[in-house]
Amino acid sequence: METALTVVILAAGLGTRMKSRKAKVLHRAGGRYLVEHVLRSARALAPPERIFVVVGHQSAGVRAALASPEIGLGVNFIEQAEQKGTGHALMVAAETLAPLGGRIVILYGDCPLVRPETLKGLVAALESSDVAGVILTAIMDDPTGYGRVLRDGAGRITGVVEQRAGSPEQLAIREANMGLYCYHAAPFWAHVQELRPDNPAREYYLTDMVEILHRAGHAISSFRIDDPREVLGINDRAELAVVDRLLRERKVRELMLAGVTVEKPETVTIDPDVTIGMDTVVEPFAQILGHTTIGENCRIGACSIIRDSELHDDVEVGQFTIVVTSRLERAAQAGPFARLRMEDYLGPGAHVGNFVELKKTRLGPGSKAMHLTYLGDSQIGAHVNVGAGTITCNYDGFRKHPTKIGAGAFIGSNSILVAPVEIGEGAYLAAGSVITDDVPADALGVARSRQVNREDWARKRRELGKKP
Ligand code: UD1
Ligand code: CA
Repeated sequence: METALTVVILAAGLGTRMKSRKAKVLHRAGGRYLVEHVLRSARALAPPERIFVVVGHQSAGVRAALASPEIGLGVNFIEQAEQKGTGHALMVAAETLAPLGGRIVILYGDCPLVRPETLKGLVAALESSDVAGVILTAIMDDPTGYGRVLRDGAGRITGVVEQRAGSPEQLAIREANMGLYCYHAAPFWAHVQELRPDNPAREYYLTDMVEILHRAGHAISSFRIDDPREVLGINDRAELAVVDRLLRERKVRELMLAGVTVEKPETVTIDPDVTIGMDTVVEPFAQILGHTTIGENCRIGACSIIRDSELHDDVEVGQFTIVVTSRLERAAQAGPFARLRMEDYLGPGAHVGNFVELKKTRLGPGSKAMHLTYLGDSQIGAHVNVGAGTITCNYDGFRKHPTKIGAGAFIGSNSILVAPVEIGEGAYLAAGSVITDDVPADALGVARSRQVNREDWARKRRELGKKP
């Protein structure tokens, strides 16, 4: 098909300026790998079978990162074993891509902010004029590090000069090449092998294609965007932080416009796949991560961290509380200072308070564990009161064992439950008990020695102490 669109994403470089052992495109911003953002935007232009990611540095890692079914399904990879520059990546890809014809969109994997609408605008700009290619440009206050767009007296684009190769006059140009291109395939592939590494970096620059095509009599135009922040490239960790913040702002703004109150929005971190219902309040410095869903009218306390969890309506998470892979039913409460470490369940109206840790524990409707408690591998029925300082001893040094507590039971403060153990419905445990045997329903379990008061003991001891 003549008009078919092929997308190439360059992701083979190490990213020396990141000062990292990890390939640059595998660093994360806004809750995703850099290259994943680019791929998601590219999906708006072409089906996966027309998308090619050029990989080289840590190619196995990049392939794996993009393999998740929702983003990567069926995208193609091209190996650029040696990374000799952005132009070299296309020289290597030519064998695979030139026969596809049509048009080609080239994107850099370190440019995660790009929106699908912008990519569509770039492609439309190629269609609406009689040029061989369109490059995306922006006027920047400080274009340091970016290629500068060269034009002749009539305003026609004649080339792009890189930072390292530019003369002082050229470097004074503020129109920057943002690194997104759309070319007609035929002229592009016809000339790509003419690229030469004749620059201080000894790299094959993709940007040299502009001058090569211009000299061959092809016109190149620009698609200029107003806000360069939309296509910032990431080269070092300071830029990574800037882009992370911009992506976080986008997400938080989306949520606020959908009816979520976010206090001090610049301080919160919310991952892209998170959903939050109306009238929920998110307090400062909260982190809501992974595939978390939160219902309506909840409160997420300051500095709490919630990951891959499900919170129904009217849930309250207090300050400094951590909730991981857990489910909280309607009007459940956790914290402040609680930790639902993994796979925990709070029934409707259940409540865990400060310094309570849960692990693989199910707390029935209306049950409470309010202070200083560890409950591991425990199944706890409805309306159970777990006293302060209760500990389940679920680990014997070899294996984990379960604890069961029936509905309506009352666990006295400072009880130790040595698992496996079962407390029947409506039973009581005396405070301070070390429970090693099951307690039947409605019984009282006491497992501690009786108190003895020795009359005058203290006074006598003091008198003894006075003698020389
Ligand atoms: C590039 C542009 C510059 C532009 C800027 C925009 C060139 C020569 N320069 O510079 O004009 O202003 O982007 O952000 O293109 N890559 C490969 N194989 C390689 C080298 C790089 O796949 O051999 C990939 C990298 O993984 C990266 C992308 O290409 O994702 C861009 O490379 P980078 O070195 O960051 O280019 P810049 O110096 O930023
Ligand atoms: Ca870059």
